[in-house]
Amino acid sequence: MYKILTKDGRAKRARLETVHGTVETPVFMNVGTAAAIKGAVATSDLEQIGTQIELSNTYHLHVRPGDQVVKKLGGLHRFMSWDKPILTDSGGFQVFSLAGLRKIKEEGVYFNSHVDGRKIFMGPEESMQIQSNLASTIAMAFDECAPAKAERDYIEASVARTTRWLARCKAEMERLNGLPDTINPHQLLFGINQGAVLDDVRIRHAAEIAEMDLDGYAIGGLAVGESHEEMYHILDVTVPHLPEEKPTYLMGVGTPANILEAVERGVDFFDCVYPSRNGRHGHVYTNYGKLNLFNAKYELDTRPIEEGCGCPVCRRYSRAYIRHLLKAKEMLGMRFCVLHNLYFYNTMMSEIREAIENHRFAEYKKEKLERMEGSCE
Ligand code: GUN
Ligand code: ZN
Repeated sequence: MYKILTKDGRAKRARLETVHGTVETPVFMNVGTAAAIKGAVATSDLEQIGTQIELSNTYHLHVRPGDQVVKKLGGLHRFMSWDKPILTDSGGFQVFSLAGLRKIKEEGVYFNSHVDGRKIFMGPEESMQIQSNLASTIAMAFDECAPAKAERDYIEASVARTTRWLARCKAEMERLNGLPDTINPHQLLFGINQGAVLDDVRIRHAAEIAEMDLDGYAIGGLAVGESHEEMYHILDVTVPHLPEEKPTYLMGVGTPANILEAVERGVDFFDCVYPSRNGRHGHVYTNYGKLNLFNAKYELDTRPIEEGCGCPVCRRYSRAYIRHLLKAKEMLGMRFCVLHNLYFYNTMMSEIREAIENHRFAEYKKEKLERMEGSCE
């Protein structure tokens, strides 16, 4: 059940109730691709930093350890020891970005595993079966994310196929949810809008999938090389054609600024590897811009990463110590930076929710962006 609590302009403050608990939106989903947040962050840590929902990947878990193994162990929630909502991406995007030689056919995609090169086939039915075995809270439709620079003809044909795949995903998910041995018979299915940066294709596709009565709607194929202005423009033209009374998810985005711009345009779910990836490189977010903790100027700096930050790292450790850990290649250094960054993102989302509730989102966004100037990603 999804319910809009209030709106401030186009920005939505909503709540999604699932069998694994409630998600207050706008929300950031913490990326744990292979059932682990990179940077040695455990699910027990996620609970400490205000995380509401975790994201994992169908493709990775199918390749290793195998979705049948996860099913035998009771599903992803029990496997990871995480009882809050989990969203699984469908594998489509990862197949296109990671797998070796691949062939796209009407029935699905043939590709080689990035782990051992073995041949794998994945189509809409296989993706739904894998996600049903994983028993995530939200499954994503199997889609093709066409290259941003592809020709119009290719994009139109690809989007039409993605629509046919979506109908197959929906039928298969309904079938799987009705089987007696399905771990989560209430698994939700989100459709994915595609169309690169072609307004008319995006709008037509959004209108088509809006009719299919899915549990939520994602916008895919963005943050793949187009400019930020193009991305915001696509959101401006596309979001109004997706059902407002359903969750809206912008896949793989993005910087704090990208998230603020997208919330303003009505998006309420986000995921991105930036906080964990940047953290692993010693880049940490603060309200005054990003810091590179490898920098020599932090050698004797006894302050926390950010003064006033309530994260478990800032409450205890200094920049000087974390810099030392990073320089000495101690895993703890990376872990501290990732924890702080995830806390920063999750805290920003809670500030966003509060700002929308108080009908001051525009002011909040302006203040936050002005303060963070100098921070790029
Ligand atoms: N993650 C980021 N972009 C995409 C997309 O276009 N499709 C899918 N399935 N996942 C994504
Ligand atoms: Zn902190």
